[in-house]
Amino acid sequence: MNLSFETELNNLLESIFQKLNLETKYANVKASDRPDLSDFQCNGALALAKTLHKNPREIAAMIAENLQNCAGIDSVSVDGPGFINIKLTNQAIAENMDKISADARLGCGLVDDPHREVLDYGGPNVAKEMHVGHLRSGVIGEAIQRIERFVGNEVTSDVHLGDWGTPMGMILAEIICCDGNLDKVESYNIAQITEFYKKANIRCKEDEKARETARKITAALQDGDPVLRKAWEHLRSESVKAVEENYQKLDVHFDLWWGESDAHQTCGEIVALARRLGIAQLDEGAEIIRLEEGNKPKPPVILVKSDGGYTYHTTDLATIKMRVDQLNAQEIVYFTDNRQSLHFEQVFEGAEKLKIAPHVKLQHIVFGTVNGADGKPFKTRDGGVMNLETLIEISKEKVRQSLPKAGEVEGYGAAEIEKLVEQIAVAAIKFQDLKNTIASGYVFELEDFAKFEGKTGPYIQYAVARINSILRKAKAANVCEGNVMLSMPEERVLALKLAQVHNVVMRAHSEKEPSIIADYAYTLAQVFSSFYNVCSIMNAGSEILASSRLRLARLVRDVLILMLYLLGIEAPEVMLKAENKGE
Ligand code: ARG
Repeated sequence: MNLSFETELNNLLESIFQKLNLETKYANVKASDRPDLSDFQCNGALALAKTLHKNPREIAAMIAENLQNCAGIDSVSVDGPGFINIKLTNQAIAENMDKISADARLGCGLVDDPHREVLDYGGPNVAKEMHVGHLRSGVIGEAIQRIERFVGNEVTSDVHLGDWGTPMGMILAEIICCDGNLDKVESYNIAQITEFYKKANIRCKEDEKARETARKITAALQDGDPVLRKAWEHLRSESVKAVEENYQKLDVHFDLWWGESDAHQTCGEIVALARRLGIAQLDEGAEIIRLEEGNKPKPPVILVKSDGGYTYHTTDLATIKMRVDQLNAQEIVYFTDNRQSLHFEQVFEGAEKLKIAPHVKLQHIVFGTVNGADGKPFKTRDGGVMNLETLIEISKEKVRQSLPKAGEVEGYGAAEIEKLVEQIAVAAIKFQDLKNTIASGYVFELEDFAKFEGKTGPYIQYAVARINSILRKAKAANVCEGNVMLSMPEERVLALKLAQVHNVVMRAHSEKEPSIIADYAYTLAQVFSSFYNVCSIMNAGSEILASSRLRLARLVRDVLILMLYLLGIEAPEVMLKAENKGE
């Protein structure tokens, strides 16, 4: 059920525009810029005036006349150069609230044309420590996954592990160099494997011979050498365990744990296909697909390197083929930072030339980096890259300072407090990320991000907990929820905000932009606060009004929980902070 005023008014305007022979692309409303004058406004007459060479106020008046006596509309006026201002009746708004409150989806509709999409996010590399750079991809990807599922699309999420490139050969070579062979590999844990990788990196930087050995070992591994393969399997599974643990802490999940290695077989098919289509060319011993067409020449796709190995291009092309053939993907979306823009442009153009994904929408969503106060990528105090675990610990420490100690609150022992600390700490980290538009980078703010005030995750969680406390008190006093009636302007403002939920979710979906949800959740929590400052429930003056306000409060709570869920954030029942403030 779609219970949005915006959608309803858009439909109404569309039919009026059709009747008046006006271009329907301008038949839409937005929440009013002047809430003192109206609830919604349509600015279509201004755009139409330009194409029709007519006075915008005249066009607006014609449209307004047709809106005048429509159900649910209280008043319509034409203001300024030709804005149409629409005010709804209190009754229509109240009825809408009652319907939303009875709807399991809180008035949110589904997409008309559900499709199958693959979301490719996370993308950590085997044996590399996960750092704050991996945060955004996981956190944004998880939010989009939840939003897409909620609006009705069929989603498969895939971590696309970097497990097949030269770094694998480098680690194996390093272990052989230190141990003489690979006999001890299976005893190494992730910390040791990461150490080998760090050492290999230094060695390969300094020594051309070491690089050559690493390349040869990579090629032999990819060729199926059984000893290397067995050792590699251990490296991979230890890494997957570590990555899983990290993402688990952040409540980030994947349906598939495919990696670049899983595409190896299909890489051969991609090369064969390129040859068959006559688009594979030899270039200094490598096999490439040229992409010079159009006005912006791009470097070629490299399918096979001169040493015979496949590249990051090849594995990504093969993975597209697998996702289309095996998962029937109709859309594939990638989330990485801006350093991979060219890579995906090349891969998408390569896919087009290879015709492996006809009618499939390929989209690369680029995000900015997480920076420190100096505007440079976020680092630890000693200048190292901030790893994800440290970041979670820092956040937990902050949150602990705001909460009571174990035993200070009845029923809350160490385990319960620690669980709460985790839920709030993760909310703080994720919300700080998701409140920014994807494209912009942001400064990781270490002072206020875990506070219970301001635009933070804990603030929204706190708003939920506060309403929970209100609901518990009302229950104890036998106040029940009932039909909404609007007696104060604050109730009206709150109800209109609640009625936006469908459009907010749909916009977050179509723009693939979780910050739209974060913004809305924050504003809703604030609007609720203003409402509750003047609209008491327990001292409402009448039972009917108390029941109506209780319904509004419960609805705000449910909508906030849904918004947090879509952002991948939990909403604890209580926050163990003075939730009773106010009433
Ligand atoms: N492993 C890559 C990296 O760390 C990211 C993978 C992104 N996904 C993809 N299909 N290429 O840079």
